[in-house]
Amino acid sequence: MIASLRGMNDILSEDYERFTYFIESASEIAKKYGFHFIETPLLEETALFKRSVGESSDIVGKEMYQFIDKGENDVCLRPEGTAGVVRAFIQKKLDRAGGIHRFFYHGAMFRYERPQKGRLRQFHQFGVESFGVESVYEDAAMIMMVSDILNKLGIGYRLQLNSLGCSECMPQYKDSLVDYIRKCQDGICIDCQRRVDTNPIRVLDCKNGSCQELYVEAPKITQNLCASCSSDFSALQKILDDNSIKYEVDSNLVRGLDYYSKTAFEFVSDEIGSQSAIAGGGRYDRLVEFLDGRPTPAVGFAMGIERLMELIKMPESKKEGYYMGAMDDEALQSVIKIAHQKRKTDTVVMDYKTKNLKNHLKAADKANAKYCAVIGSDEMKNKTIWVKNLEDKTENTIPIAEF
Ligand code: HAM
Repeated sequence: MIASLRGMNDILSEDYERFTYFIESASEIAKKYGFHFIETPLLEETALFKRSVGESSDIVGKEMYQFIDKGENDVCLRPEGTAGVVRAFIQKKLDRAGGIHRFFYHGAMFRYERPQKGRLRQFHQFGVESFGVESVYEDAAMIMMVSDILNKLGIGYRLQLNSLGCSECMPQYKDSLVDYIRKCQDGICIDCQRRVDTNPIRVLDCKNGSCQELYVEAPKITQNLCASCSSDFSALQKILDDNSIKYEVDSNLVRGLDYYSKTAFEFVSDEIGSQSAIAGGGRYDRLVEFLDGRPTPAVGFAMGIERLMELIKMPESKKEGYYMGAMDDEALQSVIKIAHQKRKTDTVVMDYKTKNLKNHLKAADKANAKYCAVIGSDEMKNKTIWVKNLEDKTENTIPIAEF
């Protein structure tokens, strides 16, 4: 038997119901915030991700599904959604048009990570990207939207918040961090030694306990923000306070993608094990310009659907539509014709096997149908159909013409 690849799952039956319930709920909320759907290709030029997510990130350095296609193009299955949306935004000249553009998307992402619970090689994200709003109110709106989605689905969370500064304060902070790390260089892991040269702030989210002990005394970005970043960060916290959204400021939250500046946030769940990040995002004011567009402020987030599926509290599934069946071959022909008509207005599931009433009722129950409609020889003779409402248990025999 040929099995699916490691870290790539099928989604069917009950899981699919959760999956679509999540997408429908999240899309409905994104639309309420004024966002419009966007679909971008799964395959993009590798250079797009190298330039946006960043060469020093684990995603680009180790995890890309990258290959040369038949036309000798260096291409890559998208590891995340932001880069493609930014590319589309610039390609459609929306950066030149100016104004505010808000998009939401959902779809498969690919990262060649070591698979484990909650960590897949093909996974699905729901994300939003907002272009053209500089105000920190938009950052707050992103966080409120995630919170609304999680509340609607009955999912508890902890929100971690940081500011990564801007092109004015971040370089100075990086210099002081590097000075600090150089003093304890011998005690840090190989990955951190590499990060000091490639992207020093990434040392702050090293998972190695002994590195973390050494960084306790390291300078904090939140204490080194310029006046504008500092006032935006305070304003963001005030908006969240005013709207009763709880958060923890975590100055070690740096995120694994290089394009962020100012606001960075992560929603985590304590109920799903080590892969606990269920949503993450932040501001990326320099990315549009970096990908050759006109300078445009931008902010967004993405949620990991597989991780959320474990946590979603589904509404009780309601009985719906019709189950139709025949008790003999002659009746089957009629049932098929009637079902075809009925599907113009209702859902109709059928079992083509002829069987007795008791077995049809069992099958209707299994299909979670609201009505069981059956034709046997008596009904054929009288041009009627027997219908049982499986919720209130009432039974009726009615003329086919009135069905
Ligand atoms: P990210 O933090 O890399 O951000 O991914 C967002 C979410 O995707 C994570 O919080 C997690 O729930 C889920 N996720 C990531 N990797 C995996 C995996 N291997 N298996 C299962 N789930 C996973 C981004 O991708 C940014 N593009 C978010 C963003 C949008 N920032 C601004 N706009």
